[in-house]
Amino acid sequence: MVKIACIGAGYVGGPTMAMIALKCPEIEVVVLDINEDRIAAWNSDSLPIYEPGLDEVVQEARGRNLFFSTDVTKHVSEADIIFVSVNTPTKTSGIGAGKAADLSYWESAARMIAQCCKGPAFKIVVEKSTVPVKTAEAISKVLRTNGDSSVHFEILSNPEFLAEGTAVSDLTAPDRVLIGGKEDADGQRAVKALADVYAHWVPRAQILTTNLWSAELAKLTANAMLAQRISSVNSISALCEETGADVSEVARSIGMDSRIGSKFLNASVGFGGSCFQKDILNLVYICETQGLQKVADYWRMVIDINDYQKQRYVERVIGGMFNTVSNKKIAVLGFAFKKDTGDTRETPAIDVCRGLIADGAKLFVYDPKVEAQHVHYELSAAKFSWDHPKAPYASASRLSSVSVVKDPYEACDGAHAICVLTEWDEFKQLDFPRLYASMTKPAFIFDGRNILDHAALREMGFVVYALGKPL
Ligand code: NAD
Ligand code: UGA
Repeated sequence: MVKIACIGAGYVGGPTMAMIALKCPEIEVVVLDINEDRIAAWNSDSLPIYEPGLDEVVQEARGRNLFFSTDVTKHVSEADIIFVSVNTPTKTSGIGAGKAADLSYWESAARMIAQCCKGPAFKIVVEKSTVPVKTAEAISKVLRTNGDSSVHFEILSNPEFLAEGTAVSDLTAPDRVLIGGKEDADGQRAVKALADVYAHWVPRAQILTTNLWSAELAKLTANAMLAQRISSVNSISALCEETGADVSEVARSIGMDSRIGSKFLNASVGFGGSCFQKDILNLVYICETQGLQKVADYWRMVIDINDYQKQRYVERVIGGMFNTVSNKKIAVLGFAFKKDTGDTRETPAIDVCRGLIADGAKLFVYDPKVEAQHVHYELSAAKFSWDHPKAPYASASRLSSVSVVKDPYEACDGAHAICVLTEWDEFKQLDFPRLYASMTKPAFIFDGRNILDHAALREMGFVVYALGKPL
């Protein structure tokens, strides 16, 4: 195996390929994208995504055996293994709009692969993007019917399980690497070739091989189950607020049961990110098309509870502040969908900010890694439009009720309330007595991540609302 190409230099393609290049110095790895700015950024000192530890990985491998390029056809035609890591957003129009996965980027990548690969050759095409179960069958048809007949295309499903903010550690020591392939000799030859790449650093016992459909469905199921845990604990947070129970105590108590486990039980203002909602909607749509309405309804509730949680938070803020936030300055601390990333895709901050703006609030947003144009874009973009490539950020119109500032103290100066929407560690270290002194009284804090020391804040004079905790 001498050369790997990856179509799509995004949050998945960039870091995963950088890790393969780092761990497999004898393999040439080229990451490709049609977005010239993105490739230029990957080739610069300022990478297009913020991910702890990624700079070091890229610096070590780039120029040695890791390359970033827009010359897609050249590198795809030369590659032995072609990863496809393009976006698979939710459809915005037509049949399945608002639910089904839009595979148009995937299909156009497949058509391009078919056109530029010449035989005789054995080419392995790897689904890295998250796709509906049975996508490999459709892609195989596109490749077979459009490609050179002397090229044998073998498709594998190798879904990615990394989480943003921890991508480098997740890739360095993954819980498992999943490879799905056909069960015949060609399929197994391809599975072995890809497993051998990962075996450079992942113990063989953690490289799980299975059939194509199980691998495709396992990815959707993993995200659905993770999101379901969050919606479950968030639903209990609502009950805690009514009964005087404390959701952190409930989570701690159930998490010590080894069958339940303690991870992913943090109540929050709601889950966000580019994948949980998109992948569950995709799962719901697949179930519906298979006639499994009850199963579809079951998973749909995970999203309904998430929307409910965001709405509940907005109502708590407005209700707590005497039923109106009209013309009140509110400091929004954190806009990214989680800490340690600058990613704002489907961040819960979007719905929360929109809810507060609708009631007349003046928002002052501070996030250590999110730029002003992204905040304005997210708050004005249509639902599901964010994952369809274009260069929207610079052209996003500025919202008059939203200011994005570079200093948390400026955001809070004169504010009636602080809304903590992302769990950035630096928020815990803020000088709260200073903030309290600068705020309008009564000074409210609505901790949407339960990261602050609520008792200490109350001692200072703040009125503190925490998720799933007594007032
Ligand atoms: P992304 O939008 O950051 O990156 C996708 C890239 O593909 C874009 O830069 C786009 O320009 C490029 N692209 C689209 N069509 C192309 C084509 N024909 N040729 C060349 N480049 C093309 O998306 P992402 O977050 O990296 O996600 C990619 C896939 O991985 C999705 O299916 C997603 O569900 C899945 N996934 C994402 C994560 C995550 O943490 N973001 C984790 C696991 C799986
Ligand atoms: C998630 C999965 O964790 C990855 O395994 C998967 O590969 C990825 O989706 C994907 O397919 O895109 P990611 O969305 O990057 O990763 O981040 P998570 O850590 O899962 O957080 C998702 C959201 O849930 C965030 O908004 C986070 O704040 C929220 N969350 C997480 C909670 O509200 N509570 C928790 O206990 C955990």
